[in-house]
Amino acid sequence: MIRFRVNGKAVISTADGDTPLLWVIREDLGMTGTKFGCGIGQCGACTVHLNGQAVRSCSIRVADVAGAAVTTIEGLDPAGQHPVQQAWATLQVPQCGYCQSGQIMQAVALLKEYPQPSDADIDNVMAGNLCRCMTYVRIRAAIKAAAAASHKGKAHA
Ligand code: FES
Ligand code: FES
Repeated sequence: MIRFRVNGKAVISTADGDTPLLWVIREDLGMTGTKFGCGIGQCGACTVHLNGQAVRSCSIRVADVAGAAVTTIEGLDPAGQHPVQQAWATLQVPQCGYCQSGQIMQAVALLKEYPQPSDADIDNVMAGNLCRCMTYVRIRAAIKAAAAASHKGKAHA
């Protein structure tokens, strides 16, 4: 049995330790916001946070998250109103939407590391999150909008 936390709740997985974390999240826990794209760590559709770091859940064994805290797109904000999600909605970033939960999870991690990211910071950190619909221009704009909104929020705090 593998014990860890998902979105703040304790989870006990009875899956084989070699099962990818993504499978456990989607099939066993029924949280389907995290997507399966390539299955080999190359597209970013399956991005979640592991102890606050963005990781590819298709490429992590569930045994390796024992004792850790995992956050999925469902856990970012109870009402789906995280500043990054708000910026995504305002700028209408998604097209088909398939890659977008991974994009958002990666963007949230990016903004923790670079609260006011440059274009180069965004390009470097987001390079592994592919979008077949080519929404990259709107993704970059939304990341900047979320950064500006959170800067403004802090200035007024
Ligand atoms: S499904 Fe995990 S990186 Fe593509
Ligand atoms: S919005 Fe369609 S793959 Fe990104």
